[in-house]
Amino acid sequence: MRVKLTRRQALKGLTALGAGAFVLGFYTWRWEPHWLEFTYPPLPVSGLPEGLEGRTLAQISDLHVGPEVDEDYIIQSFRRVQEHAPDFVIFTGDWITYRGPQGLEQLRRVMAHAPHGRLGTAGILGNHDYGFRWKMVEVAEEIVTITREAGVNLLRNEALRIAGLQFIGLDDLWSPFFDPKGILDARGRDAASIVLCHNPDAADRLVWEGYQGWILAGHTHGGQCKPPFLPPPLLPVSNRRYVAGKIGLSGNRQMYISRGVGHLLRVRFNVRPEIPIFRLSRAA
Ligand SMILES: [Fe+2]
Repeated sequence: MRVKLTRRQALKGLTALGAGAFVLGFYTWRWEPHWLEFTYPPLPVSGLPEGLEGRTLAQISDLHVGPEVDEDYIIQSFRRVQEHAPDFVIFTGDWITYRGPQGLEQLRRVMAHAPHGRLGTAGILGNHDYGFRWKMVEVAEEIVTITREAGVNLLRNEALRIAGLQFIGLDDLWSPFFDPKGILDARGRDAASIVLCHNPDAADRLVWEGYQGWILAGHTHGGQCKPPFLPPPLLPVSNRRYVAGKIGLSGNRQMYISRGVGHLLRVRFNVRPEIPIFRLSRAA
């Protein structure tokens, strides 16, 4: 009798454990990777033109168009951004996860639904946009063409002024074309600037002299999986401070790292995908 009860209890326990593992697996695989969160951080910019006070900027990062991310989820995310009617839309790289030329066609299809800022739309490239080993320059060129045709001002170590606000877009840190010094020297001191830089580790390179202000980054996906109260175990950065959200930097600089829209492996736990909709204000 006693043995029977113990077996039943053990069976019950195992069933509960199995059900728990199934639910957790389903959640991390099917639910959280598509459970997009809109956040609304303030973005105080020094020298911001008066007319831009209170305007909004949506940052879309790490789409990772490819076999791992549902196309419908990305298009739906684009729709939700457009419903916010942001004044600026900024893409901060990793448009695709490259598996072959079909991914470029998929990007073209997806970008037909891309949201645009009422005042302007700009973007940069990430490491994955350079294909295998981040060296496929021809893939990056295709992405530049596709995104520009979709109405994005794709910046490669270039600056663009929209309505009095300057966006300095850097090419990717791991790409063959990371060369920010020229553009930062030339335009980094200009008032009302925001730097777009995919990989947060670039903030630690000795190229920022004179630039004060915001750097908008992505790349980490927030780690994708994070045990409660602990840092995420897997982060593609050297500086372990660079996980997600707002980070204070030396030289009167600040960085915001978006957790991104897409993913590499389809798993997210305790790190929901994110699209920040910043509210611009004049820094005191
Ligand atoms: Fe990424």
